[in-house]
Amino acid sequence: MLVSRLLRLVATRPCSSSSSRFITNPANRTNQLSLELKSINDTHATLLIDGKEAKFDWIFLRDSCQCARCTDPSTRQKLHNTTDVPLTIAPQNRGAQISNDNNLEILWNKPLLNHQDITEHRSSYSNVWLRTYSSSSNIARARYHDRPSVYWNRKVIESVNLRVQCNDYLHSDRGLYHALKLLNDYGLIFIDNVQGELAVEQLTERIGEIRHTFYGKSWDVKSTEKAINVAYTSQALGLHMDLLYFEAPPGLQFLHSLTNDVQGGASYYVDAFRAAETLRRQNPQAFRLLCSYPVTFHYRNAGRHYHFTRPTIVLNPFSSDQRIDHINYSPPFQAPFESDTSKDEFRQFIQAFQQFRDLLEEPSNSYELMLKKDQCVIFHNRRILHARREFDASSGSRWLKGCYTDLDNFKAQLRTFQEKFHPVADVHI
Ligand SMILES: [Fe+2]
Repeated sequence: MLVSRLLRLVATRPCSSSSSRFITNPANRTNQLSLELKSINDTHATLLIDGKEAKFDWIFLRDSCQCARCTDPSTRQKLHNTTDVPLTIAPQNRGAQISNDNNLEILWNKPLLNHQDITEHRSSYSNVWLRTYSSSSNIARARYHDRPSVYWNRKVIESVNLRVQCNDYLHSDRGLYHALKLLNDYGLIFIDNVQGELAVEQLTERIGEIRHTFYGKSWDVKSTEKAINVAYTSQALGLHMDLLYFEAPPGLQFLHSLTNDVQGGASYYVDAFRAAETLRRQNPQAFRLLCSYPVTFHYRNAGRHYHFTRPTIVLNPFSSDQRIDHINYSPPFQAPFESDTSKDEFRQFIQAFQQFRDLLEEPSNSYELMLKKDQCVIFHNRRILHARREFDASSGSRWLKGCYTDLDNFKAQLRTFQEKFHPVADVHI
């Protein structure tokens, strides 16, 4: 019975500060990770997990209880609200211990607010679970969020094999996993031997649901008269991202070349993350301005009126290293500025914007190639800028077919494969 185990190791009462009375039970260790209860007080437990100190708030622990009364075994969803946890939650006297099977076990001093608990509540946390939540890097690893981007210029990207065979991508999980890792790292891959008018939809659905837009489920990039978008002309189309006038622009873009025998029309790509990092290093003030100054995008044509305002550089607000989350850069789709342009800050922003533009358009930063027939490019639309040189529409035909999906689908598929092919120690979230 738990109570007998409780007596072995426990605290006097969760109020006093540190004490060495809380020691690991060495008996009957079920895994090799050591766990010791170093001290407790009114608000926290301090544990030694494999000798490393980690501090856990009682509210966090009570809120995260994984038992069947707190987390539905079928849906894996929480059955209480965080706001139901009383501020004075703590273990009962002698109610926190390391069990024989090396878990932290807690008998709580009070029920959740608004819950009619008639019995006392016990929670159990495995040492692996505790280690996972002992640091942000462990949490990231357990979520498979720790795969970094590789920032590139032309020299770097030309040394990487970004080509994937269509058959591997479509019919082998390892093939798709390889493609997704490249896409995560570089934001850009090329699928070879893609055939058929609807193949781009098939490639997209291999990662996730297609993101429908007013351009259609998939859309044709052909030069037409009276085009509704500059993409549907033979004009040069400068570096840009698609659909920044949406509240949630799609994260992945697919472009399949079905025909391409015109003169001109080369595609080129730039890693906007790298350019932004260079700007941060060279001119931190300009970088900060691009993180805050509002730029408006719109599409006001053909019976539509989309509009969204966003800064050029967006940082991940929760990263400890101010990591870049995404970039918003799409000159052809900018609206007139809607900020107060009478203020000095506008001109300061323009200078910073021009410096960023120079970095983006520096030839040594761009990767240019002719998208061949039966080749499909996939790129990260929140990181990689794409562009097209002008082409001679009378010299032949050029037909690309495009599709979008959301980054959520891409990340979910990548995490699922990482878990399948490279499992890290557990976390039952
Ligand atoms: Fe585009």
